[in-house]
Amino acid sequence: LVQHITDSTNSQLMLKVSQGQVTQPGYTLVAEAQTAGRGRRGRSWYSPFASSLYFSLYWRLEQGIAAAGGLSLVVGIALVRLLRRLYSLEAKIKWPNDIYINDKKVCGILIELSGQANAACDVIIGIGLNIRLPQQAGLNIDQQFTDLASEAGVMIERNPLVAALQSQLIGVLTEFNLQGFSGFVEEFNQYNQHRLRQVRLTGNDEIVGMCLGVDSQGGLLLQTATGINSYFGGELSLRAE
Ligand code: ATP
Ligand code: BTN
Repeated sequence: LVQHITDSTNSQLMLKVSQGQVTQPGYTLVAEAQTAGRGRRGRSWYSPFASSLYFSLYWRLEQGIAAAGGLSLVVGIALVRLLRRLYSLEAKIKWPNDIYINDKKVCGILIELSGQANAACDVIIGIGLNIRLPQQAGLNIDQQFTDLASEAGVMIERNPLVAALQSQLIGVLTEFNLQGFSGFVEEFNQYNQHRLRQVRLTGNDEIVGMCLGVDSQGGLLLQTATGINSYFGGELSLRAE
């Protein structure tokens, strides 16, 4: 479904799922602009008219919420594969949920789950992908950012991109449902923006260490003063040192 303008494609799709209007995994909602685009932890996603992709896809996670650790990582893998294949762009993933090109953020992923720990649950996968941002974008985004048109140097047609993204996502998500994250570890590590860099992870505590990659659950492996430990997404933020 294409909506011209909406508050947030994630919120709209979640509403449709909760009202039983959407039951088919892979169902996708896209909009031309959002008035209340959301990032993680209440942050906002700058969503001007007709210059980006605001995309949400409904999925059922067969293993339940407990297995969700690798989910945003496989979504990242789908996006990186697509950007490399379609535009030969060296896109990278910043664990757990952002896509970067040349150290600038081009895409954010917002995953929202509802259900119980050990039963299949509903998932809304939200993707904001910058295509051609207006000149004044910098006034609205408080970190380094970029868009596909600047990086690829070509005109980007959004309709084929939406179709390719949907089918790429359905492919990796089907595999994730069947086999979990372990088969994706090596590919994720290849695309890992911070691989072998010194990073700072903030959450309840602050941890500084060398980023080694991810484990078979999608946890971030850091070499710290106390040894190699694994950390999980949720409320954690990763920064280069
Ligand atoms: P982390 O999740 O590790 O804390 P983050 O700072 O990127 O990383 P997110 O919640 O993932 O935080 O994303 C929201 C942030 O993304 C905003 O605070 C803003 O800095 C940035 N942002 C907002 N809109 C855009 C956009 N269209 N393109 C690129 N970046 C954006
Ligand atoms: C982030 O980097 O924090 C995630 C940003 C996710 C933005 C997308 S745009 C489509 C969908 N609808 C929303 O309100 N957010 C996501």
